[in-house]
Amino acid sequence: MIDISSPLTVKNKFLIFGGGFSGDYFAKSIRKLGCIALTSSRSVSNDPNNFIFNSDKNLIPKDSIFEGVTHILSCIPPDKNGNDPVLKKLQNKIKNLSLMWVGYLSTTGIYGNTYGEWVSEEDQPNPLQERSQRRLNCEKEWINSDLPIQIFRLPGIYGPGRSTLEAIKTGKVKVIDKKNQVFSRIHVADIANAIIYLIQTKNKLDFHQIINIADDEPCSQIEVIKYGYKLLGLKMPKKILFEEAKNDLSPIAQSFWIENRRVSNKLLCEKLGYKLIYKNFRVGLDNCLASIN
Ligand SMILES: NC(=O)c1ccc[n+]([C@@H]2O[C@H](COP(=O)([O-])OP(=O)(O)OC[C@H]3O[C@@H](n4cnc5c(N)ncnc54)[C@H](OP(=O)(O)O)[C@@H]3O)[C@@H](O)[C@H]2O)c1
Repeated sequence: MIDISSPLTVKNKFLIFGGGFSGDYFAKSIRKLGCIALTSSRSVSNDPNNFIFNSDKNLIPKDSIFEGVTHILSCIPPDKNGNDPVLKKLQNKIKNLSLMWVGYLSTTGIYGNTYGEWVSEEDQPNPLQERSQRRLNCEKEWINSDLPIQIFRLPGIYGPGRSTLEAIKTGKVKVIDKKNQVFSRIHVADIANAIIYLIQTKNKLDFHQIINIADDEPCSQIEVIKYGYKLLGLKMPKKILFEEAKNDLSPIAQSFWIENRRVSNKLLCEKLGYKLIYKNFRVGLDNCLASIN
């Protein structure tokens, strides 16, 4: 867990672009350490910790939001042209700040299909989907920005309020079986905690600009669904073979099943010494159960 004797102090001010599922969780975690954390959203909110940023509508944060900022985390996906919304609209403003650290949430989709093989940061990106090509382009934009950037490649994100348990309860789960198919995942608490760990230890450990944050146990979707039904005390419907189900899936859902890879966390967990809070989907879903109504 987080070491509170960290170099992060109440003097640190974080701007989190994209206060969605991961951004909001990160903001709450960093505030527990005494830092200021403001999150963006695309529409006006009454939350004093929230500011407006909408790249599509050219709604830009006011100058006072940037005063005293030491850290930035961007959790916003690429725009439709494959440009990064934060850099596109705010790069000139950001580059004049005295930033200690900038983080960017990317995806492991940039690795493409490895036919079930393990993939690490040392492997060349090989994006298969257009959205992954756009993402890789955004990574490049951040790397070329001259900002003190660190990129986190993430697989499927889940956590309290957004997991297989909610999908089962709302009838959105499809029990699909595809031989030898696996997915990697990460609990949202481990995204926040791993990033905080890396910021805190950045003067002690080797710096790595690109880091995967994934749990220890890539596995089939059906194993996760089966465990979810068990936790909820419900009977799992009969499984459907992927070949029979695929035509009823949305194009985006189909695209996820085309890629099959195991994402390695060895750099983060072995070399850099981060200890996962939720090392597999079972302990992760046990945690999510507490917030299910
Ligand atoms: N979900 C996954 O399984 C997964 C897996 C790997 C990587 N990722 C990536 O990791 C990042 C965080 O994921 P997440 O699931 O936590 O994200 P999320 O909940 O979908 O939040 C995305 C945030 O981006 C903001 N946003 C979107 N378009 C914007 C624009 N044009 N201008 C300004 N703000 C914009 C949204 O604003 P509002 O709050 O106003 O909606 C929201 O706060 C994203 O880049 C995501 O693509 C996600």
